[in-house]
Amino acid sequence: MERFKAIWITKEEDAKRQNPAEVREIGLDDLMDGDVTVRVEQSTINYKDGLAVTGKSPVVRRFPMIPGIDFTGEVVSSDVAEFETGDKVLLNGFGVGETHMGGFAGYARVKSDWLIARPSDLTGHEAMAIGTAGYTAMLCVIALERHGITPDRGPVLVTGAVGGVGSVAVALLARLGYEVVASTGRKEQEEAYLKELGASEVIERSELQGAARPIAKERWAGAVDTVGSETLANVLSMIRYGGAVAACGLAGGMDLPGSVAPFILRGVSLLGIDSVMAPKRLRIEAYERLVRDLDRDRLTRLSSTIGFDEIIPMADEILAGRVRGRLIVDIG
Ligand SMILES: NC(=O)c1ccc[n+]([C@@H]2O[C@H](COP(=O)([O-])OP(=O)(O)OC[C@H]3O[C@@H](n4cnc5c(N)ncnc54)[C@H](OP(=O)(O)O)[C@@H]3O)[C@@H](O)[C@H]2O)c1
Repeated sequence: MERFKAIWITKEEDAKRQNPAEVREIGLDDLMDGDVTVRVEQSTINYKDGLAVTGKSPVVRRFPMIPGIDFTGEVVSSDVAEFETGDKVLLNGFGVGETHMGGFAGYARVKSDWLIARPSDLTGHEAMAIGTAGYTAMLCVIALERHGITPDRGPVLVTGAVGGVGSVAVALLARLGYEVVASTGRKEQEEAYLKELGASEVIERSELQGAARPIAKERWAGAVDTVGSETLANVLSMIRYGGAVAACGLAGGMDLPGSVAPFILRGVSLLGIDSVMAPKRLRIEAYERLVRDLDRDRLTRLSSTIGFDEIIPMADEILAGRVRGRLIVDIG
């Protein structure tokens, strides 16, 4: 039987923490149940994968586990009519890499409901350069649009802008004609990168840190926030009348130490974004939009490719905030 490499995470029954992740050779029999088996061609490393691989947060909730919340590849066997051998598919989220074995392995066996056909105009590399981070950025943009935030309403802020979600959000919003303000803790090193992606202004993340005032000077029509905590509270206090923040991240913390003042005095809205359980029709809409609205040159500029053996060391790097843009993993 064919053997293939997998990142393998175990935990002793009564242990508080999982064991360090390791690379193992496994077979198809080691995978969990599902009705479609996919030969994984590419995966990617998101912030959540960093948490899963290192065990810094209890992202992995079933053991043994193969992390990797995203993958793309080719169907090698299918028990359902929707997918046939040879189809190119992609998967983002649905608990894969958390409660069901994920994309950091040569093969994945999953539920067909979680898969979507890979758009024919996206290569495997492009699909994973997007990954959960990029598709979440698109969900944020769709949410702002549905709230009526149009480019003529004023500038839109992106926090954690050098990260995966942030980089794609900057590129998307700029391409759609918004004036994009990018907030980062790496202004000195990454201002040129963010401007190349389309940001018109780059600000220091420290401007959005510290205890938030209930209400502050109105600056942005909308925002995509990947940071949470004090940053989100400060951003809310600075949103213009009737504006909105699409909140998707917690890179700075999970709390929200703010005031209701922006909601009740300025009619500001906080739009919650979840990519993991988003319904299939929204996923398909997001990918249609990504194919149309994401500049491929910018997508290439914001992504880099690593090999399978670099997954474990890169998990620490992403949590330390040292990764720029998106990391594609060549699995095949
Ligand atoms: N809701 C969802 O469905 C969903 C989906 C995907 C991701 N997420 C979440 O979104 C966030 C971003 O994910 P990602 O994959 O883009 O991660 P990432 O590539 O690691 O980017 C996170 C960025 O946040 C900034 N940051 C990190 N630590 C910070 C801190 N202590 N204070 C302020 N800023 C900090 C850094 O940007 P700068 O260097 O530019 O400051 C970093 O690059 C994560 O919290 C992730 O869990 C949620």
